[in-house]
Amino acid sequence: MKFIEVKNYQQMSETAAEYIMKKVLDNPSITLGLATGGTPTGTYQNLIKDHQKNGTSYQHVTTFNLDEYIGLAGTDKNSYRYYMDENLFNHIDIKKANTFVPKGNGRNIEEECNRYEDLLAGHGGIDLQVLGIGSNGHIGFNEPGTSFQSKTHIVNLAPSTIEANARFFNRPEEVPTQAITMGISTIMKSKEILLLVSGESKRDAMYQLLHSELNENFPASVLKNHPCVTIIADEAAILDLKIPMLKE
Ligand code: F6R
Repeated sequence: MKFIEVKNYQQMSETAAEYIMKKVLDNPSITLGLATGGTPTGTYQNLIKDHQKNGTSYQHVTTFNLDEYIGLAGTDKNSYRYYMDENLFNHIDIKKANTFVPKGNGRNIEEECNRYEDLLAGHGGIDLQVLGIGSNGHIGFNEPGTSFQSKTHIVNLAPSTIEANARFFNRPEEVPTQAITMGISTIMKSKEILLLVSGESKRDAMYQLLHSELNENFPASVLKNHPCVTIIADEAAILDLKIPMLKE
């Protein structure tokens, strides 16, 4: 694992955006795996700024998102499809047809999971996967206890995840209780992974990530088995953590 320590959220967002931009410039037809939530919004804002200022093009880029709530149509403002359109896709020159998010409101969700897994494999997999981390160690929506062998599947969201995500909804009861998520094995097939960690609320998760053994009860620990992971974390997330062994 490569570790980049930054001062704060703003610096994490700038550093992550530069990292992604460089990969897009090196490989204009790159396949990116993308995350939603609070962590990557600043990164996406910086990608948009760069696109507007420097013209970095996404015309040949393909994206696959990690997850989507079950029961929400892509037009629902709390869906992850809506989030991606609003926070990134509508502001860059990517072709919408090349942006994939699982469909959370279909009739047959099992079938949708298989379709998404096959679609991703058919595209040759992900070159660079951007990840956030849940305070319980989830990656995508793979909650503690998820098999490391899992493929795209239906998940019951942990109470702590529902609570954490309630901030995006009008009322906590509106947070869906289930989601479709890429599985852990799906994520691990990515050629490269960029994990973004910011804020005090992630400090415990960061500690466990650095100090725990491989353990399905702490999903992010699987990243220790991946050959190419870069973590960008800010001071609030790593305060007092002993991480010199990871620094380059
Ligand atoms: C989002 C996702 C989740 C989030 C995680 C952290 O697509 O897959 O794993 O990355 O829940 O969320 P935030 O960034 O809101 O703290």
